Amino acid sequence: MANYKAVFIGTGMIGAGLGANALLHDFDVTLYDVVSEEQIRKNLKNIFDILVEAGMTTQAIADEKQKTVKISTDLKEALKGGADIVQEAVPEREDLKRSIFRTVQEILGDKTIIVSTTSHYFPSILQKDALYPGNILVAHPYNPSYILPLIEICGPECPKDVIDKVVEVYTAMGKAPIVCRKEVDGFIVNNISWKALFTAMDIVEQGVCSVEDVDRAIMFGPGMRMAILGQIMCISLGIDGGIAKGPEKYGLPHKPIYDIAGKGVEEEIANRDPELGNTVESLNKWRDKALVEILKIQKML
Ligand SMILES: NC(=O)c1ccc[n+]([C@@H]2O[C@H](COP(=O)([O-])OP(=O)(O)OC[C@H]3O[C@@H](n4cnc5c(N)ncnc54)[C@H](O)[C@@H]3O)[C@@H](O)[C@H]2O)c1
Repeated sequence: MANYKAVFIGTGMIGAGLGANALLHDFDVTLYDVVSEEQIRKNLKNIFDILVEAGMTTQAIADEKQKTVKISTDLKEALKGGADIVQEAVPEREDLKRSIFRTVQEILGDKTIIVSTTSHYFPSILQKDALYPGNILVAHPYNPSYILPLIEICGPECPKDVIDKVVEVYTAMGKAPIVCRKEVDGFIVNNISWKALFTAMDIVEQGVCSVEDVDRAIMFGPGMRMAILGQIMCISLGIDGGIAKGPEKYGLPHKPIYDIAGKGVEEEIANRDPELGNTVESLNKWRDKALVEILKIQKML
């Protein structure tokens, strides 16, 4: 039985990629685009070829999924029967995205949630003049979106049940949804990555090291740990008594970081659901095992 019903509008890199993920998780998928049916099928096949080559699925499953997918070049037909979610992935143009939302809401009414893959537009911009603004929000993937699980959900003015539903649908799609509670430039992930990128280029510019060494610094150090535990948990595990104790342990130069930790981050870590059963010891053990797996992939062992 199908998991959820999803209609993808725009089947380029992102739309076809997420469409393939949804198919692999037994969604009832319709792909709609303004290009020919043949081109839509080609876009999907390109993604499945990559996924088979990468070992994420088998050729037999990829072939079967490409037979079950519905393809349409007529938006009305694509939306026939409604959908749990309509995923927009057309080029980054505000007017284009908003006109699509209007058409979808005119056809489907107030019951359907529409998510946009936009990297830049805040939900409040996309919701402007919409028939049902509370049903329009951002679900931003990260390239290559057919492999990376991250989906940033942003819709601070949307009702909680809408956000919860989107989290539920992406979880069922095998993704890792996170919620961005405010409209901030770059949402969560690019907010972090742009700052890291700026700093990396800045220290090369200052003659501190080569481009290759700045990349190796991330690849063979913090990048490996962060891939396993994220940024904050990673640091927290390394400091006895929590991040705020950092100045005592490491001296004062980075005091502002530890001061911020003392203002809420620490509290959130301390109040993590005990049901998760994660202790500092168990997390460290798991981290070390996972690091060894990465070393094997990097052929460092
Ligand atoms: N490529 C990335 O790395 C990336 C990452 C995150 C988010 N995004 C966002 O995802 C969206 C799509 O990006 P992409 O890289 O897949 O673009 P793309 O150019 O590869 O694909 C866009 C698709 O939309 C189709 N299209 C154009 N007008 C249409 C219309 N009126 N109705 C239906 N389909 C239409 C095009 O034919 C094309 O197939 C953009 O908003 C982009 O900012 C992209």
